[in-house]
Amino acid sequence: MAEGTRAFSGLWLGLVMALSMPEGFAGERPNLGQSITPDEIDTITVFPDGRGLPPGSGTVAQGARIYQDQCMACHGEHGRGGLNGALTGGGQRTIGSYWPYAPTLFDYVRRAMPYQNAGSLSADEIYAVVAYLLFLNGLWGEQDRLDEVNLRDIVMPNRKNFTSTYELP
Ligand code: HEC
Repeated sequence: MAEGTRAFSGLWLGLVMALSMPEGFAGERPNLGQSITPDEIDTITVFPDGRGLPPGSGTVAQGARIYQDQCMACHGEHGRGGLNGALTGGGQRTIGSYWPYAPTLFDYVRRAMPYQNAGSLSADEIYAVVAYLLFLNGLWGEQDRLDEVNLRDIVMPNRKNFTSTYELP
């Protein structure tokens, strides 16, 4: 197709789209899709008390391998920080010194990490890498397998410093 023709068909497409927009579209939010329901929020969220954790498990050793491959470039060796934030240690907000609840770590990693490829890890891989991060913070045994039941039993050291309105059942 010649340049001119392509530019013309682009214009044409734009015009057709503009004409087929619902009335009053300009300046308003497009009326697409549906609002998310409370049930749907529940299926994509892990709550501080562990509600919503999917079945699965992983070990510290498995997590260490995943960490090396997919996290270390940004978070440094043993989570001590590099290009991006440290995930262990004091003096700044890290998992051990700051996070009030362990299950939300699963939620965070599932939603947001690895930064450039969020959503790519399986539930088992997330349990493993979370086990490794908790181990680095002295909160999980090297030989212990983390799963959807024992993750909710971990009491984070900084929980008492949060004056949250969230009440554990
Ligand atoms: C490309 C760089 C990059 C990679 C790779 C990466 N992260 Fe991150 N990570 C970040 C950045 C940037 C932040 C801060 C994000 C923000 O504050 O919005 C972050 C924040 C975090 C936090 C929250 C830290 C805190 O205390 O607030 C955790 C936990 C975490 N990453 C875990 C992981 C894990 C686990 C992996 C590997 C599966 C991973 N990250 C891979 C860049 C990266």
